[in-house]
Amino acid sequence: MKITKICCIGAGYVGGPTMAVIAQKCPHIQVTVVDLNEQRIQAWNDPNTDNIPIYEPGLSEIVAEARGRNLFFSTNVEKAIEEAQVIFISVNTPTKTYGKGKGMAADLKYIELCARQIAKVAKDNKIVVEKSTLPVRTAEAIKSILDNTGNGVQFQILSNPEFLAEGTAVTDLLNPDRILIGGDTTPEGEDAIEALVEVYSNWVDRDKILTTNVWSSELSKLTANAFLAQRISSINAMSELCEKTGADVNEVARAIGMDSRIGPKFLKSSVGFGGSCFQKDILNLVYIAKSYGLNEVADYWEQVIIMNDHQKRRFSSNIVQTLYNTVADKKIAFLGWAFKKDTNDTRESAAIYVADDLINEQAKISVYDPKVGRNKILNDLDYLETRSAEVNSNAIVTFDNAYAACENAHAIAVLTEWDEFITYDWKKIYDSMQKPAFVFDGRNILNAKELTQIGFVYQGIGS
Ligand code: NAD
Ligand code: UGA
Repeated sequence: MKITKICCIGAGYVGGPTMAVIAQKCPHIQVTVVDLNEQRIQAWNDPNTDNIPIYEPGLSEIVAEARGRNLFFSTNVEKAIEEAQVIFISVNTPTKTYGKGKGMAADLKYIELCARQIAKVAKDNKIVVEKSTLPVRTAEAIKSILDNTGNGVQFQILSNPEFLAEGTAVTDLLNPDRILIGGDTTPEGEDAIEALVEVYSNWVDRDKILTTNVWSSELSKLTANAFLAQRISSINAMSELCEKTGADVNEVARAIGMDSRIGPKFLKSSVGFGGSCFQKDILNLVYIAKSYGLNEVADYWEQVIIMNDHQKRRFSSNIVQTLYNTVADKKIAFLGWAFKKDTNDTRESAAIYVADDLINEQAKISVYDPKVGRNKILNDLDYLETRSAEVNSNAIVTFDNAYAACENAHAIAVLTEWDEFITYDWKKIYDSMQKPAFVFDGRNILNAKELTQIGFVYQGIGS
C-alpha cells in the first residue's frame, strides 16, 4: 500500500514535531495532526510560527515550510481519521492518579477513547500506529476494541515508539539512531510494516529501520527509557559518595565513560532527572513486572526512582543546611525551571520539588527561566497540592531577567543547564547579592574556580 494520507491524534510534544518532520520529508503525503485541545491547535496554526505551542530548536522553520502545503493542524478528529490510511495515536499516557494501579500504572483512558473513535469513524481498512509509549501488550486491547466496535473493516496495529528527546527533537527526528516498527507476523501485518517502512525510508537509511513483533517493540521503548534513567541514577548515587570521599563525580564520569563498553553519554550527575516520561515509564514497568509476580524485577527498577527522589530531596536539604539551617524569608534565586535546556516543558522538573521543599521552609523563591513563565510555574506547584494556590503565589516571584532575579538573593540554585547561564557577568551578580553569596549548581555547568575567586561559596553536585 502506498501511503498518501496520514492522521495523527495528539498535537503534543511528540505528535507535533514528529508529524512536522514526516510532512517536511514526504511532500507527497498529506499529514493532518488533530487534537481536542482547541487552544493548542490554534497555536499550531498561528500565522507567526514562533508562536507554535512547543519550543524546539529548528521546529518553527519546519512548520513554516510544510504547514498549509501538506501539514495541517485541526480539531476535526473524525474527518482526519476517515480520510487517512494510517492513523498515529500520540496522545498522553500519564501515570494513573486513581483506582487500581494508582501512582504506578499508565492511564490508558485517552488511548481507549482514540481506539473507540477510530472504530466508529473508519469506513475502510486502516493501519493504526501506537506512537505513544504504552505498556507491553496494549496492542491487544486496542485490537479488541477496534474489531468489536468497528464497522467490519480490517485494522492492522503497529507499534512505532518514539525515541526523540526534548530540546533536540528536530535533530533526533531527522537523524534517528533507529526507527522501530513492530507488527503482526501475518502477511497483512508484514504489508502494514512495509508501508510504514516506506514512509520513514524517505529520509532514514533502511538499515536503521528495525522491524520486530509488536510486543518486542512495545517493551523496547520502556526498556530504553529505564536504561537511560538508570544511568543517571547510577551516576547520581556515585555523586553522593564522591561528596563524602573527596572524589569528583565529573572526573569519575569521564574515567568510566572512556571505557567503550560504558560510553560517555548520559553520565551527567544532576539535581535529578525530570521530564514527563522517565518516571512514568519506569513506574509502569514496575507495575507490569509486579502484575506478573516478578517482584525482584520490579524492585530492581523501582530503585532508579527511589534514587532520583533522594537526589532531588538531598539538593534542597543541603541548601537549607548550608544556609545556617534556615531559609525562612530568605530570597533564593532559581536559574531555570524547565526539566532540561532548550525546552519549555516543565513536567516533573526537579525545580518543582526543590521549590516545594524550600517553600515548606518558608523561603521566598525568585525564578528566571528563558522559556517558562509564571503561570506554568504556579500550575506546577499547585498540582502537588502541598498548600493553597495563594500561598504558592506569594512564595514565588518570577523575572524575565536573571540579574534581577538574583538581586539581594542569599543563594542561587541552578536547576536547568541553559547555556546562557554560563556566560553571565558573575561578578555583577555577586555584587548584587547578600553575603556570603551561595551558588548551588544542580547541573555542574558553572566554572567553580572562577566563581570561588569572585567570592561565591560554590557547591556543585558530587564534588
Ligand atoms: P502531550 O500531553 O504533549 O500531548 C498529547 C496530546 O494528546 C494533548 O495535546 C491532548 O490534548 C491530546 N489528546 C488526548 N486525548 C485525545 C483524544 N482522545 N483526541 C485528540 N487528542 C487527544 O504528550 P506528549 O509529550 O506528546 O506524549 C505523548 C506520548 O508520547 C506519551 O505516551 C509519551 O510517553 C510518549 N513520548 C513522549 C516523548 C516526549 O519527549 N515528550 C518522547 C517519546 C515518547
Ligand atoms: C527521554 C529520552 O532521552 C528519549 O529517548 C525518550 O524518547 C524520551 O525520554 C521519552 O520517552 O519521553 P527527554 O526526557 O526528553 O528524553 O530528555 P533527556 O535528555 O533524556 O533528559 C531527561 C532528564 O534527565 C532531564 O531532566 C535531564 O536533565 C536529565 N539528565 C539527562 C541528567 O540528569 N543527566 C544526563 O546525563 C542526562
